[in-house]
Amino acid sequence: MRLAAAVFALAAPAALAAPVTKAVASLVPTKDSNVTGSVSLTKVTGGVRVAGRVAGLTPGLHGFHIHEYGDCTSPDGSAAGSHFNPSGAPHAGPGAGMRHAGDLGNVEANAEGVASIDYVDALASLEGEASILGRGVIVHVGPDDFKTQPTGNAGGRLACGVIGVAKAE
Ligand code: CU
Ligand code: ZN
Repeated sequence: MRLAAAVFALAAPAALAAPVTKAVASLVPTKDSNVTGSVSLTKVTGGVRVAGRVAGLTPGLHGFHIHEYGDCTSPDGSAAGSHFNPSGAPHAGPGAGMRHAGDLGNVEANAEGVASIDYVDALASLEGEASILGRGVIVHVGPDDFKTQPTGNAGGRLACGVIGVAKAE
C-alpha cells in the first residue's frame, strides 16, 4: 500500500504536466511611462496568436518585441535584455524569413493612444528550446525600422511584461 502511494506520487507530476497552450503578459509601465496593457499568446494552427491591447501610447507605431529575459525589475526596462533570438538570426520585421523570434514588429496606437493587437505569429512557440515562456514583452517609444541591428532603432522602453503560463481556454 505504502509502495503504491509512492509510485503514484512520482508518476503524478508527469501525468499532470499538460502542454502549455496559452500564455499571457501583463504590461507594466517603466519609469516615467503611463503605458499599460496585456497580451495573450495562444497556440493555434500555424503558430501563436498574439492578441491584446496597449494603452497610454502616443499615436502611431511603436516597436513591439519579445526580449530574452522576463525581467522587468529595472526602471528603464533594460533588464529584459536584447531581442529573443534563439536561432542567431539578424534583426528584421515580422514578415521576414530570417529574423529574431522576438521580432513581432510594431503595434499601432490610434488617436486615443490605444493599440489593438490580433494576429498569428508563425515563429513564436510555447514549447521546446525556443519557447517564449518566461521571456519579456517590451513596447518601445519609437517605431521599429526592421533594419537597424540589432534593435530596429525603436528607442526606449515604455512597458514591460513577463510571459507566464495562462489557464487554457
Ligand atoms: Cu524591443
Ligand atoms: Zn530583433
